[in-house]
Amino acid sequence: MSSISKAEFSQRRHTFMAQMGAESIAIFPSAPIPERNNSVEYRYRQNSDFQYLCGFPEPQAILVLIPGRSDGSTVLFCRDRNPEREQWEGKRQGQDGAIINYGVDQAFSIEEVDQILPSLIDGCTRVYSNIGEDADFDNQIQEWTNSVREQARMGAQVPTQFHAAQPILHEMRLIKSPAEIALMQKAMNISAQAHINAMKAAKQGLYEYSLEAELEYEFRKGGAQHVAYNSIVASGSNACILHYNENDQPLVNGDLVLIDAGCEIDCYASDITRTFPVSGKFSTEQKAIYQIVLKANFAAFNYISPKHRWYDAHNAAVKVITEGLVELGILQGDVEELIKAQAYRPFYMHGTGHWLGLDVHDVGDYKINGEGRPLQVGMVLTVEPGIYISPEDTTVAEKWRGIGVRIEDNVVVTADGCQVLTNKAPKSVAEIEALMAQA
Ligand code: GLY
Ligand code: MN
Ligand code: MN
Repeated sequence: MSSISKAEFSQRRHTFMAQMGAESIAIFPSAPIPERNNSVEYRYRQNSDFQYLCGFPEPQAILVLIPGRSDGSTVLFCRDRNPEREQWEGKRQGQDGAIINYGVDQAFSIEEVDQILPSLIDGCTRVYSNIGEDADFDNQIQEWTNSVREQARMGAQVPTQFHAAQPILHEMRLIKSPAEIALMQKAMNISAQAHINAMKAAKQGLYEYSLEAELEYEFRKGGAQHVAYNSIVASGSNACILHYNENDQPLVNGDLVLIDAGCEIDCYASDITRTFPVSGKFSTEQKAIYQIVLKANFAAFNYISPKHRWYDAHNAAVKVITEGLVELGILQGDVEELIKAQAYRPFYMHGTGHWLGLDVHDVGDYKINGEGRPLQVGMVLTVEPGIYISPEDTTVAEKWRGIGVRIEDNVVVTADGCQVLTNKAPKSVAEIEALMAQA
């Protein structure tokens, strides 16, 4: 059960419903059961919007919100209790559990949805749903609406407007409550400890997957139900592949290892990257690149506050990275001109961060009216500058080739700046080398 309170889930639903307007209904499905291969499923993970609105953890459920309904505004369709199925598949809440444990006003069997849902749609002018996310569910909504239409001569009132729920819901999800930030901090603390364990364990003779095992052991031991995304353990020039996850190569003294890994607690993500030497000691070249990325990481924090906009932190990181690459002779020319020409892009080809929440790349717009949006208290985002020098880049002196460094933290915007939530994972050269020397 999520540690978000029933009262908070209820408040979210009411905040959403207050923006729906009169005579409206919203319909949200749970995530499908994800099949891996013949009769084997992936571990179930709830749909993020469904989770945000009710926290009900089961598949085969549909949440319906009807503001102002006399029998209660929150209706859930869910699986029936079934001792025989539960013996094989695990316990179910059933309709009573949904009401008692999850605070919905009324619950029906999912078997009855085709009979009951049209009667709930009848009389509503507007239907809200996550249009475009699941074509089958979009069609299903039209079929339920057509069932109402068939009753029109009997006086049924058919909806005339179909609205995307995402703009309302995703603006809400963008601002995190104290309870959400506490949950994310818990995930981040477990992930930070996992990164420490991986640094301590690293040595020649092991493989990338050996460190993946260290990470995921700590995640599960800490109570995380899932990884927030597939763990990236990229040694040597694999670090130049942004979403590398084969994780099958041997660790070699003289190489760096880039680990981008975070766990998920109650569906809330963490997203941390650290880069460190297999041997425990950075080479001169590795250290030179690393220090630029670290400086960019710190520079970005200074541009995250309610006085700043999305992109300000990225621009700050780009400036530090371009200056650094010029100092090392990897780029040549005037820094301002190089920035204008995006000369840094072969070495820094991604943004400096993204929203973080129920999804690792969380929902919410980054621009408003074409401009980077102003940051607001309670937004959680990543700060993840990097430099990647392809092993095949013959425009760069050989000594730099194959070095890939990223340093990624998670921050929350506060009234006067931002708070870094992932400081428990060491990142200065001195801290990393000291930690690895002790191991
Ligand atoms: N772990 C994916 C990312 O950093 O965006
Ligand atoms: Mn990230
Ligand atoms: Mn990451």
